Amino acid sequence: MKPDLELAPIGIYDSGVGGLSVLREIKRQFPAENIIYLADQAHVPYGPRTLEEVRYFSNQISAYLLNQGAKLIVVACNTASAAALHQLRLTFPEVPFVGMEPAVKPAAETTRSGAVGVLATPATFQGALYASVVERFAQGVRLIQATCPGLVEQIESGNLEGVETRHILESTIWPMLEQGIDTIVLGCTHYPFVIPLVEEIAGQQVRVIDPAPAVARQVGRVLNEKGWLNPGKQSGDVRYLTSGYPGEFQALILQLIGESCIVQGLRWGPEGLFV
Ligand code: DGL
Repeated sequence: MKPDLELAPIGIYDSGVGGLSVLREIKRQFPAENIIYLADQAHVPYGPRTLEEVRYFSNQISAYLLNQGAKLIVVACNTASAAALHQLRLTFPEVPFVGMEPAVKPAAETTRSGAVGVLATPATFQGALYASVVERFAQGVRLIQATCPGLVEQIESGNLEGVETRHILESTIWPMLEQGIDTIVLGCTHYPFVIPLVEEIAGQQVRVIDPAPAVARQVGRVLNEKGWLNPGKQSGDVRYLTSGYPGEFQALILQLIGESCIVQGLRWGPEGLFV
């Protein structure tokens, strides 16, 4: 055990604000942990990009977070997990990574109608990770997949319930309801910020699954096994970084998770990220 790592930060990243839905849950379960959150808003959305491109960003971001002393990295982005998780574990074998996968398993275990809607980005559906989750857990269940084009951009601009956001969700969820779904899996970390609207459109009989609590528990399990949980009694520090516009990100952090903070800007260069 390396006791100094107890105080080291958890690194969390996403293409943008989506990973804040995971950060919020990690902070709720492990308030003493120090955290560095990095939003790659220069490249958001990741969803329509190629897996190779997202893999490159993920590699550079992970290297940056490790340079900042991260003890564990949470890939708080389904798209980046689909594109890069496997390769990140090979590239940085000494680092624990916790990634996201669409919560098809709990959905398949609890659906009564046998039909489950999955909302995620195109890249997430293309990755081997999704194929393997479907193969392992969705036998005998009908999965209805949809990519919600434009939804990540609406959430990035703080539009959680306006006309455009409602239109995207209605045109996605109504056809799923016609096909008899009773469960919706949120396979993109941006989407938990529109859960109230999803629930309103889908109705009370449909269960909406946000994987953030399970991912936070997994972070706790890994840190506990390593002896790296922060034993502090006070709230840890959270540093927020973005490759986009710090002022805009600051306003979104306040809107989405109620935190006032100062955001630091980063830039991309040929060698990766720098201040
Ligand atoms: N929040 C991300 C995800 O979980 C990425 C969305 C995007 O940038 O397209 O997939």
